[in-house]
Amino acid sequence: MKKKEVNLIFFQGILSELEQCDQELVNNAISSLKDAYAPYSGFQVGASILLENGKIINGSNQENVAYPSGLCAERVAIFYASSNYPNIKIIKMAISVQAVDFNINDVISPCGACRQVMAEYEENQNYPVQIILHSPNNDILIVDRVQDLLPFMFKSPHLKKH
Ligand code: THU
Repeated sequence: MKKKEVNLIFFQGILSELEQCDQELVNNAISSLKDAYAPYSGFQVGASILLENGKIINGSNQENVAYPSGLCAERVAIFYASSNYPNIKIIKMAISVQAVDFNINDVISPCGACRQVMAEYEENQNYPVQIILHSPNNDILIVDRVQDLLPFMFKSPHLKKH
């Protein structure tokens, strides 16, 4: 039996320290969260994806009175990207958040289901997707690949590599 270790490298800072193009992506996520349909949770999330062709895809969380039917912002954005630009690499995703009736002081990190979905696209495209997390007080946390957020992701034995 060998002891093994998983290392997590992440970057912490503030929005103004990011390169201009990354600040723009975060600003897209901030604008997108205003389009969230989140009457049940009051928790608005925006996710903006930069594609290899320079296009930016925006998503926000969409809820439903039949609660499990709703979808997180990250999956709204990534499913749209894959549906409309199926063979274009996803370079990075910025995620921002705001709550209607309470303050959020930390960045929020994608839920487990979104991590699994994001990780599979990352795996298929064989190229890391940088994740930029943004909080309402402009704190930033960055990981350079989804895999870092989900070590030991579930991989289908039938998964076809494109
Ligand atoms: N939500 C997201 O959109 N992304 C996350 O990473 C976490 C949660 C949404 C789902 C639901 O509409 C609301 O936030 C409260 O959980």
